[in-house]
Amino acid sequence: MFPNRIIRTRAGLYRLYSTLKVPHVEINGINYKTDPKITNVTDSIIKLTGRSLHLKESHPVGILRDLIEKKLNSVDNTFKIFNNFKPVVTTMENFDSLGFPKDHPGRSKSDTYYINETHLLRTHTSAHELECFEKIRNDADNIKSGFLISADVYRRDEIDKTHYPVFHQMEGATIWRRTKANEGAKEPTYIEKIREDIRQVEDQLNKENVKITVDDDTIPLKEYNPKQEYMSDLEVDLCSQHLKRSVELIVSEVFNKKISSMVKNKANNTPKELKVRWINAYFPWTAPSWEIEVWWQGEWLELCGCGLIRQDVLLRAGYKPSETIGWAFGLGLDRIAMLLFEIPDIRLLWSSDERFSKQFSKGLITSFKPYSKHPGSFRDVAFWLPKDKLDVHQVHENDLMEIIRNIAGDLVESVKLVDSFTHPKTGRKSMCYRINYQSMDRNLTNAEVNALQDMVCSKLVKDYSVELR
Ligand code: DAH
Repeated sequence: MFPNRIIRTRAGLYRLYSTLKVPHVEINGINYKTDPKITNVTDSIIKLTGRSLHLKESHPVGILRDLIEKKLNSVDNTFKIFNNFKPVVTTMENFDSLGFPKDHPGRSKSDTYYINETHLLRTHTSAHELECFEKIRNDADNIKSGFLISADVYRRDEIDKTHYPVFHQMEGATIWRRTKANEGAKEPTYIEKIREDIRQVEDQLNKENVKITVDDDTIPLKEYNPKQEYMSDLEVDLCSQHLKRSVELIVSEVFNKKISSMVKNKANNTPKELKVRWINAYFPWTAPSWEIEVWWQGEWLELCGCGLIRQDVLLRAGYKPSETIGWAFGLGLDRIAMLLFEIPDIRLLWSSDERFSKQFSKGLITSFKPYSKHPGSFRDVAFWLPKDKLDVHQVHENDLMEIIRNIAGDLVESVKLVDSFTHPKTGRKSMCYRINYQSMDRNLTNAEVNALQDMVCSKLVKDYSVELR
């Protein structure tokens, strides 16, 4: 829909932008104006905006979402669920409302699908935090309230077995309203409530079959992961305990389900223990912030970012100063689903082949049985960058990925940089990428692969003025 063209920016660098062929684009039934300098969303991405895999109850992503929602709400039913937000959001929702600085790399066009200057495909579910905080603001009778949001999110990214331009996240948040102490009580009621809430989550954790071991040396807080002034030390301590135990409960539930199914199937690599560790992190809308990693099959996997919500966000959502404290987390669903269901390639999650979809049922964690393995066939593309474009970052790798994705779609399994060097005399830079063509459901012919490769090569020449080698 948008053939790409190179323009020269004032800085003298080439960048890839889309040439406007249509003045409007329709996404989820709404028309958006496009902008030749900004629009980089493509037809193939727009087609994925209606799939909502997270809502399909017999799809691995839907099954996982449901499992986590049920577990979290089994404690005391605090979380209101919002799973129907549409993927087009404003730059305000995705970035400004969360305090992203104007020059934050997350805003860059090489990483994000823009529709025009003000609208984009959300890059994370945090884009809906502000709106959800507004929605629960008037649950005034409760000291505690919260929400869970699940949705598809979009990022321009590399191509391999674990990256797809669309994936799914779940966002969660809990807030407590600061209330005064009852007469004769030692502590304000909300502090007593948080203590009780922590005990409840701990009770749930203690019920799990394989107990989780936690490694956490992120406390005391360091200068680079500071607490907010409006919160007392006690509040930070209690709020982060509740956050961490709640996130551990998710991890514990999901991986215990997996371990039980491995035990049932007598899998020989069944883990005997479940280890997680906390590390310090930074997010513009939480302070302090952390990430949790789980030890799974010999490596640490990053699962989830989280932290205590910054007061600015709550103020923007209409809360009175110092009225409320709370936490938020954001969890990627697809990679966890892949390991739970033993799905070897992320493209399978998007397959409409019944041999895939018929294998899963609501509420059950089962291992995916490969129905066929079609051989891949790789082709290398090697090229010299134009003389005035020696720095590889001026041809952003994500732009190259996007060209390949647009031409070959799900017929590409991976794209890897296999070589790059600078000619000692001329100073020209050469790059070589290996594209592995492989279909999930059929054999590709050589002629078909050659035709795709030819198209990729000529598009590269056309869009980047590279010289093929
Ligand atoms: N939105 C973040 C991401 O996509 C994840 C995240 C981190 C969400 C911290 C949160 C949070 O709500 O508090 O990487």
